[in-house]
Amino acid sequence: MKLVRYLLGATLLFSSCAQLFAQDAEENSHVAIENPAKLTHDEANTIYDSLKEILSESYGLAELSEIKDYQNWERYNSAPYISVTHGKRFVNNYANELGKDYGKLAEGEQYPAGTVFAKDSITVTDEGKNFMGAMFVMEKLESGKNTETGDWRYIMVLPDGTQYGDTTGDDPELVKYCHTCHVGVASKDYVFFIPKNYRID
Ligand code: HEC
Repeated sequence: MKLVRYLLGATLLFSSCAQLFAQDAEENSHVAIENPAKLTHDEANTIYDSLKEILSESYGLAELSEIKDYQNWERYNSAPYISVTHGKRFVNNYANELGKDYGKLAEGEQYPAGTVFAKDSITVTDEGKNFMGAMFVMEKLESGKNTETGDWRYIMVLPDGTQYGDTTGDDPELVKYCHTCHVGVASKDYVFFIPKNYRID
């Protein structure tokens, strides 16, 4: 079933945009690209803008209602930035309405249940090639629903629309490492926020 969805996604990608290449599932989940390009904020935004629509369509294949409209949510970074911890990809961070206090919590406060953070990604190489990257999602669950992950659900969606792992659904072990790292900011409800140079305020 996964393979079928992967092939479907890959076919759609190839036919919609000749410049984009679906990376294979394994590559996307673990391997970082070696030389991400150095881009100005404007350059990164321009490249991202040209890929936004196809990103939305591709993640949409996963049929996750939680992130369906994520590109209409507030984006909290001024431009895509390289996230070493998410595969050296250029990433963006969106939060839904319930996550409007993104980055503003005082020590010990928590985001309300239903908060969703969506982090989409692209890779841009030194050679000027652009690739779609995975989507990283955190959803705050009702209190007590999943205490071992601080009541956060972590999901990763590959750029072909395949749901790679879900801590509360299929293949939870594949995304366990998410919380292992996010636990470093447990006092901020496991949420890191945007690197300083890319904050909007
Ligand atoms: C090695 C550490 C590390 C791992 C592993 C990691 N993250 Fe993150 N995550 C971060 C850091 C640091 C940030 C904020 C800065 C950035 O974007 O790079 C972040 C930001 C996020 C955000 C935006 C909310 C926030 O905390 O600011 C989401 C959503 C997210 N990560 C999801 C995931 C998912 C899903 C996984 C697993 C597939 C994952 N992360 C794995 C370190 C990590």
